[in-house]
Amino acid sequence: MKRLFIFLGAAAITALTPCNINAQRSNATLKTAFKDTFYIGTAMSLPQIYGKDRKSVEIIKKQFSSIVAENCMKSMFLQPEEDKFFFDDADKFVAFGEKNNMFIIGHTLIWHSQLPKWFFTEKDGRDVSPEVLMQRMKNHITTVVSRYKGRVKGWDVVNEAIMEDGSYRKSKFYEILGEDFIPLAFQYAHEADPDAELYYNDYNEWYPGKVATVIKMVKDIKARGIRIDGVGMQAHVGMDTPSVSEYETAISAYAQSGVKVNITELDISALPSPWGTSANVSDKIAYDEKMNPYKKGLPADVQAGWEKRYEDFFRLFLKHKNSIRRVTLWGVTDSQSWKNDFPIKGRTDYPLLFDRQYRTKPVVGKIIQLTKEK
Ligand code: G3I
Repeated sequence: MKRLFIFLGAAAITALTPCNINAQRSNATLKTAFKDTFYIGTAMSLPQIYGKDRKSVEIIKKQFSSIVAENCMKSMFLQPEEDKFFFDDADKFVAFGEKNNMFIIGHTLIWHSQLPKWFFTEKDGRDVSPEVLMQRMKNHITTVVSRYKGRVKGWDVVNEAIMEDGSYRKSKFYEILGEDFIPLAFQYAHEADPDAELYYNDYNEWYPGKVATVIKMVKDIKARGIRIDGVGMQAHVGMDTPSVSEYETAISAYAQSGVKVNITELDISALPSPWGTSANVSDKIAYDEKMNPYKKGLPADVQAGWEKRYEDFFRLFLKHKNSIRRVTLWGVTDSQSWKNDFPIKGRTDYPLLFDRQYRTKPVVGKIIQLTKEK
């Protein structure tokens, strides 16, 4: 019996690190800790939006001040057929955000992926003309943005249009309209809701070539007198790549170009990566047991390295808090994360701040502690 008490005592000490104890004693949550710094957000899945994943919903209400829809506002879901809009899921998402006083983000208006097939094609299968594509973009953006006017506070207007080397992605939008499709999308969004914040969002936005082109694009949009408020830096990062200093250089460069930075889609994969930090959803790699090494949990050294990585990034975000409008995690618990299936399907990853049993990970206390450091 005595031995059992000693064991339980030791387990409790291990679980309650000083940071955790402080966080629990002060009742601090991410939302309260970052109240005066930047919005701290999460993506919401359909089970969360519909309240089926009850435990996650409790976490969202308690810990986050901003939400973004992980999937249900993408064009293939909102307008599966031309002029046939489906708003049930998005309406529910926005209502949840309003009820809980959240800063609501719309994701995403113009993206080459998760886009309905009809968008670029005529009935006979040919590509649409530039005029028709502009009309379709305008109709989609105007219908969606107007519906949530004054309620969705910021939109990812264009997503993932620039490659790492700074060239434009050869999407159909680009092939048919050239670079102009980006300023046009911002113009249509601004006309539909003049008060909404408008962002360009992308992954790997720390590659120098990409930084240069995005900044050129931001300046071009501004020079045309069109609104753009921010650059969303998707933060699907790994254990080693990118370095914190590479990320910092990019944050500073975007801030200097006269826009705010949103850290979007934050998750830190603990798994080995076959190629780095791409988030290009069409890239897939075959399952390999060696690439799924932590099915039963993270070894202590990996766990420590993973926590340090989160702390290093949040230290960086706090350092640049005057340039950062929002930090958004790409989901709540590890079980929900897209990283379990990307780039290799069927792995067990640990990229988020809450574990598979809905428990707050110790790193949350450490992140909260960072907000108290001068
Ligand atoms: O809706 C269908 C459903 O009908 C079907 O039964 C089910 C079976 O697999 O699939 C459902 O679609 C899935 C969809 O999520 C909605 O749940 C797709 O298979 C799945 O591939 C899709 O993945 C999403 C991915 O974007 C697709 O592009 C991820 O959940 C989502 O996290 C991810 O998010 C993107 C950002 O929008 C942009 N940046 C990169 C990021 C990660 O890829």
